[in-house]
Amino acid sequence: MSIDKTLFRLIAGSFATGVTVVTTGRAGAYHGMTASSFASLSLDPSYVLVCIDRQAETLPMLQDTGAFNVNILTEEQEELSRQFAIKQSPQAHGLEGVDYSLGKTGLPVLKGCLAYFECRIAQQFDGGDHIIFVGEVLDGGLVVDAAPLAYYRGVYRRLAQ
Ligand SMILES: Cc1cc2nc3c(=O)[nH]c(=O)nc-3n(C[C@H](O)[C@H](O)[C@H](O)COP(=O)(O)O)c2cc1C
Repeated sequence: MSIDKTLFRLIAGSFATGVTVVTTGRAGAYHGMTASSFASLSLDPSYVLVCIDRQAETLPMLQDTGAFNVNILTEEQEELSRQFAIKQSPQAHGLEGVDYSLGKTGLPVLKGCLAYFECRIAQQFDGGDHIIFVGEVLDGGLVVDAAPLAYYRGVYRRLAQ
């Protein structure tokens, strides 16, 4: 027995999430990808997790770099989320034209994000058509005091005050 895939998507989309952009890559070839599968996993040791589609261009870069940043977006950054989710062309998710600084591990921290984690890949697991990455958190920070961007049932949302 297995669930109908459309129903699976509708149920999974009923879980409201925040939105992140995972950044990785190497100098001159940084890359970003919109991800809502982020979760805080463990405090001691400090672990977070993110699930990456096996088809994503981000995947080999992440595995090659061995590290990633999780940039948590504000409601002002919906366009950035769209930019790193929709593929206009192959290699469309480079950081050219995007404002960022480099964090302590040398990976991009997006300007104006709510907060970020800097991680090194501690473990990776098979997750069906995704791979589950457990990141050991090496550093991070709170950046701007703003409302988060939310995603629910396929639509970007803003939290009611
Ligand atoms: C709100 C939102 C959340 C997403 N979350 C994930 C995710 O957690 N993992 C994933 O692999 N793809 C996720 N995606 C899809 C990727 O952002 C999309 O496939 C992207 O084009 C992959 O880029 P890449 O091929 O440059 O890695 C999400 C898309 C949206 C709009």
